[in-house]
Amino acid sequence: MVFSMAKPKSIFSCNQCGYESPKWTGKCPECGQWNSLEESEIRPRASKAQKSSLKAPQLISENQTAPQSRLVSGNREFDRVLGGGIFHSSVNLVAGDPGIGKSTLLLQIAGALVRKGITVLYVSAEESFWQIKNRAERLELDKLTIPVLIETELENILYHINQVNPQVVVVDSIQAIYSPNIAGAPGNVSQIRECSSQLFREAKEKGWSLFLVGHITKEGNIAGPKLLEHMVDVVIYFEGDSFNQYRILRSLKNRFGPAQEIGLFLMEKDGLKEVPNPSHLFISDQSSNRVGSSVVCSFQGSRPILAEIQALVARSNYGVPQRTVSGFDQRKLALLLAIFEKHCGLNFSYYDVFVKIAGGLRIDDPAIDLGISAAIYSSYLNQPLNNQAVYIGEIGLNGQVRSVSQLEKRVEEAVRLGFHSVYIPAWENLKMPKSKDFQVQPMKNISELLKLK
Ligand code: TYD
Ligand code: MG
Repeated sequence: MVFSMAKPKSIFSCNQCGYESPKWTGKCPECGQWNSLEESEIRPRASKAQKSSLKAPQLISENQTAPQSRLVSGNREFDRVLGGGIFHSSVNLVAGDPGIGKSTLLLQIAGALVRKGITVLYVSAEESFWQIKNRAERLELDKLTIPVLIETELENILYHINQVNPQVVVVDSIQAIYSPNIAGAPGNVSQIRECSSQLFREAKEKGWSLFLVGHITKEGNIAGPKLLEHMVDVVIYFEGDSFNQYRILRSLKNRFGPAQEIGLFLMEKDGLKEVPNPSHLFISDQSSNRVGSSVVCSFQGSRPILAEIQALVARSNYGVPQRTVSGFDQRKLALLLAIFEKHCGLNFSYYDVFVKIAGGLRIDDPAIDLGISAAIYSSYLNQPLNNQAVYIGEIGLNGQVRSVSQLEKRVEEAVRLGFHSVYIPAWENLKMPKSKDFQVQPMKNISELLKLK
């Protein structure tokens, strides 16, 4: 006897990882998040592919003329983050905290594109036409012919895209648009998933490029299913903090260029200004001798950026000493302190240690280990370091100063910014002409820091 099971009418999907289940559970079995399963309706699928919409396989070897592969906006910081301009029919997700400047950036880019004769459609589902016009006036873009559509319904947006037939579409934001054919309120997982996949399909088919604004959650993740990040070609974050004017545009994923590329801007009263010389921004005046401060060189995408490390080592008043970092992984600090203890005989168990990267910069590059160690040691001793030096090197678990990538470019940046010496891993064979104004000081082990004056 055959039992026929009733087909479920709805499905529950996790708003964190996209896991789907026919039943509701309090905890997502995939990612372990509580209360993240949301209900949505299952839409019947067309059973057979329609002959007219079937696509035939194509041969790569076939001689077809490719469309112009990249649209260059002329905003150098923006173009660099994308890997040299906007890729043809690409889908780009721009994520960031509210108020960081996503809408400002994309309106400025829309203006730059229109100036170059590239057609654009700016769709806003969050703001009124007057708000956008106001912003355009502030950015001095109000004389340009930028078509702006205020619309939240996906089908209408797609209709107008077909009418305007632009090369680039901005949709601000994915959480604010919805389709009445999909269950749930705007911003819900199935709305985000379905609306974005319809937009992506159209972009790829019709050959326009899409910029999708995405909000991020309190934890810093893009709100909505994780799936969204897998589906798009490029994920860029727009970051900065509310106490600083500068903003960093960072590519986290890029199918057409290097990931981890950064672009720098300053948010001024008349819009975002490009910062071609970032190292100047992150190091303060080096003329005074300062305790607990060192200069490091990190690689961000394709360029070296000098940054300042500040450390404070102070006797601890409580039982458990404090370890606080900002700008890099807390575990790196624990590791470096353990290495200090093991290989230099220093004991930090009665000291609080605070370390930050000045200016709110975030660096994951291991080449800053030596500079962090030098700053900590300087504060511990209460003696300033050589303020004309840049520290470059990763520290291994055995205390060795290890080689880093792109050493030459890092040293060149130190020279360019007027530093007089660099501490580098001893194993490196740096090809540099000898000069009495610039010293290269090789280091083999972290314990050599103790010999520095
Ligand atoms: P906005 O682009 O609206 O941020 P988002 O879309 O990421 O939420 O930018 C908002 C902030 O930027 C707001 O606090 C005002 C500020 N701003 C300037 O400082 N200068 C400018 O020229 C503009 C347009 C905005
Ligand atoms: Mg906005």
